[in-house]
Amino acid sequence: MLVHAIPADLTYEFAADVRAGLSKRGQKELLSKYLYDDVGSALFEVICHLPEYGLTRADERLLRRHAEEIVERLPVPIAVAELGSGSGKKTRQILEAFCRRQPTRYYPIEISRAALAMCERELSDIDCISILGFEREYLDGLREVAAQRRSGQALLVLFLGSTIGNFDRMAGLKFLNQVRRNLQPGDSMLLGTDLVKPSAQLIAAYDDELGVTAAFNLNVLARINRELDGNFDLRKFEHVAKINHHARSVEMHLRSMCRQTVEIPASDISVDFREGETIWTESSHKYSPEDVVEIARTAGFRCDVQWIDEEWPFAENLLIAE
Ligand code: AVI
Repeated sequence: MLVHAIPADLTYEFAADVRAGLSKRGQKELLSKYLYDDVGSALFEVICHLPEYGLTRADERLLRRHAEEIVERLPVPIAVAELGSGSGKKTRQILEAFCRRQPTRYYPIEISRAALAMCERELSDIDCISILGFEREYLDGLREVAAQRRSGQALLVLFLGSTIGNFDRMAGLKFLNQVRRNLQPGDSMLLGTDLVKPSAQLIAAYDDELGVTAAFNLNVLARINRELDGNFDLRKFEHVAKINHHARSVEMHLRSMCRQTVEIPASDISVDFREGETIWTESSHKYSPEDVVEIARTAGFRCDVQWIDEEWPFAENLLIAE
């Protein structure tokens, strides 16, 4: 697998985003993409195995059960791109189904180099697959994939695991629209979306008993210490998961347990926290099946099929570019 490394100065961008997010007058925030360095990505893999967090298992069940049907609905020849492949584990079933039909080129697009390497280890034993990974932000990677496609070859974009839920609703719509602009009519997107469910179930899923999600969240502060020379004392912050009924989302925050000041030299800031003040680190939006059809339509896709898991409300949506 060829990995195209990112040339940009990522530390500089991280420092600037941390400065902007923690200098805000109202709610302080850190962008959720910074949760996923190598430690964060490894902790997220553990979250996916927790009994309280049924999302990944629902996603995998649906892909396992419907892989053949998904493949049968799509044209030949086809290449497969995946936005945020992670370890690649849940993609195996669908890639195997494609490879039973034709040799298949697979383009995982990931910002985490460690996740790309794991993805290659996980999937390279599939017969007739060729893997070309892109260490890129999603849309940059997709643009490069679209530029490489051969004429007459269709493209399927996988966006699994309800990562779309980590965008604000408007940003999610805009993102789908930008994906659509890199596709041609008849190309497709398989979009995984976590569906609305009772608050208690969501709180348990995002604040598990073992404290893995808490570690995943706190790691962003540890990352600032490691990469930006910050002096966050992790014992003085606690993980909080709360429901935002209006946005139909579950939010993760880090709450300062006392009044304190934190220095972050690489971002050139000193940040004051009141006792109880929080940093908002992630929102995870939940959808109804009808929401997805509507968002897809607005972004320029027709929703061809929705498969819904019975154990954990989650939908796999096959969208066709119009
Ligand atoms: C990656 N994403 C879909 C996960 C979610 O459920 O929103 C991230 C996560 N955050 C806490 N637990 C899992």
